[in-house]
Amino acid sequence: MPDAQPTKERKHLMRLAALNDVSRVLVACRLDREGIELMRSAGLQVDYEERITQQEFDRRYVNYDAVVIRSNVKARPVGGKGNLRVIVRAGVGLDNVDVEGFTKLGVKVLNTPESVTRAVAELTVGLFFCLARGIVRYASELKQGRWLKSEAHGIELRGKTVGIIGCGRIGREVARMAHALGMRVLVNDVIEVPRDFLESVEGKQVDLLTLLRESDIVTIHTPLDPSTRGLIGERELREMKRTAFLVNMARGGVVDETALKRALREGWIAGAALDVFETEPPTDLELLSLPNLIPTPHMGAQTHEAQRAAGIEAARLVIRELLGKSV
Ligand code: MLT
Repeated sequence: MPDAQPTKERKHLMRLAALNDVSRVLVACRLDREGIELMRSAGLQVDYEERITQQEFDRRYVNYDAVVIRSNVKARPVGGKGNLRVIVRAGVGLDNVDVEGFTKLGVKVLNTPESVTRAVAELTVGLFFCLARGIVRYASELKQGRWLKSEAHGIELRGKTVGIIGCGRIGREVARMAHALGMRVLVNDVIEVPRDFLESVEGKQVDLLTLLRESDIVTIHTPLDPSTRGLIGERELREMKRTAFLVNMARGGVVDETALKRALREGWIAGAALDVFETEPPTDLELLSLPNLIPTPHMGAQTHEAQRAAGIEAARLVIRELLGKSV
């Protein structure tokens, strides 16, 4: 016969058991509220620690079934696996996660690559315009009372060549936008870029040297890994046209900042825009203050839309992995 009304003690034990069953999620970064709500409404216990330090993260991640991070902390299996089943990187770059180390321990590592594509591509093209027309420089001169109309001669993007290094989701979105602006598109990638995509942007896949020599704007969209670390250094910068611009939206280590500083000072290239740096925030004030450099604070993915999409997608992945449900 089933138990009649549960006693007080039994109810307490049931509650404890239920509590033990609840999967725990550590959101160790800023995440859109909708993503948090989605996980909570699916019955997960979510601890939201957007200002967690590296030390705290290293100590605490083992107590959770899932963790969600951005680029704010490095996820390394310093304390082993503990309860951890999945790490979700809200965004694209996995360079701050020891994917191999966690995978060996049986922890899944996932990211939300679709969520930030448009935002990063739009900022990239925004920086093309800023470089081509000196927008940041002349606006800042005018704020200080200097009307430099006669000096403010820029170039148009139409008819110029853009060289896209790394032709994944973001690189392709940049290619579509550049094509729509009337630019000629060259791409370089370690894998063969699909022919139908290249046809759609009237683009051509070329080797790195050709891309560097022929482009008016070189833009980088590769992941950072051992094969791309230092990809653009002195030799590569010297191959670029003296009138060309370099944009790095990928990761700091892909461009050698010391070589870039010389290139900008000595006029090997006309200018550059960096959204990412070897150390973030960057400490090299000499580099940041160069007049032909536009530095931005790793804000490629910082749009309302991209952050909402990353938060919701991260929550969906956590729910799928911990509860086996799709939402
Ligand atoms: C990413 O990898 O998702 C972007 O670089 C954005 C970020 O890390 O903040």
